[in-house]
Amino acid sequence: MQNRIMITGAGSGLGREIALRWAHEGWRLALADVNEAGLRETLELAREAGGEGFVQRCDVRDYSQLTALAQACEERFGGIDVIVNNAGVASGGFFAELSLEDWDWQIAVNLMGVVKGCKAFLPLLERSKGRIINIASMAALMQGPGMSNYNVAKAGVLALSESLLVELRQLQVAVHVVCPSFFQTNLLDSFRGPNPAMKAQVGKLLEGSPISAVDIAAYIHRQVAAGEFLILPHEAGRQAWQLKCEAPARLYDEMAEVAVKMRAKAPAR
Ligand SMILES: NC(=O)c1ccc[n+]([C@@H]2O[C@H](COP(=O)([O-])OP(=O)(O)OC[C@H]3O[C@@H](n4cnc5c(N)ncnc54)[C@H](O)[C@@H]3O)[C@@H](O)[C@H]2O)c1
Repeated sequence: MQNRIMITGAGSGLGREIALRWAHEGWRLALADVNEAGLRETLELAREAGGEGFVQRCDVRDYSQLTALAQACEERFGGIDVIVNNAGVASGGFFAELSLEDWDWQIAVNLMGVVKGCKAFLPLLERSKGRIINIASMAALMQGPGMSNYNVAKAGVLALSESLLVELRQLQVAVHVVCPSFFQTNLLDSFRGPNPAMKAQVGKLLEGSPISAVDIAAYIHRQVAAGEFLILPHEAGRQAWQLKCEAPARLYDEMAEVAVKMRAKAPAR
């Protein structure tokens, strides 16, 4: 029976809600984050929800911390069945204004953090015939304006997930990728970008979501059980993706108009 799950970024937001959703089913949880106070809170809530497990500080930029986490799962749980590469940070800014350091930071956390998580845990997953759940974003599919470094990182997570889906099928390791639109969490706290006006715009987008992190965790749980690879929790996201597949030029026109509006609200400094 599979009942051991590892989640990065579990100290807040979606990572916490995923932990609680699986805790309701009585799973054993390995919870990782750089936010140790948040992790302790998540574990407490998870215990109340019926789960058990341990927390470990882990910065997903550092491969040795991920291999140490895999080792801890081996020692405490005798392996792992599911990993959720969820840790992530927010960024924004028009391409002309983003620095190369902004790019390096975004790629190191949101893309290479996922690559390193998959690599560190693959030997354990091969043994358990487990599954990988990578948290990307609708940004992976839609490439909205004013967030090119985030778009590229998340598109990389999608490409990695597709690559693993086909490579690992023979090994019976399942792969899922989740692409939510904006929803309210603490993601804005991590925002990095050259233009503060852009941060306020991202904040408004997070607030505007019709669904919560709790809803998204429940949706992920259902879709994973149904064996779905590409998981799109927002109804509007599913429609936008369909539109892009059918008429990409129309979507690019809409996005270009959004870019004009965003520039007017956040002029270059
Ligand atoms: N909130 C949204 O609108 C939204 C939309 C699409 C995708 N996502 C993705 O969902 C995931 C979870 O984000 P959230 O919205 O719950 O935000 P959040 O800020 O509430 O949670 C993210 C967690 O990741 C942790 N983290 C950040 N950098 C880390 C690092 N280097 N190593 C380990 N942990 C680190 C943070 O400490 C935090 O606890 C992210 O990958 C994010 O890109 C969020």
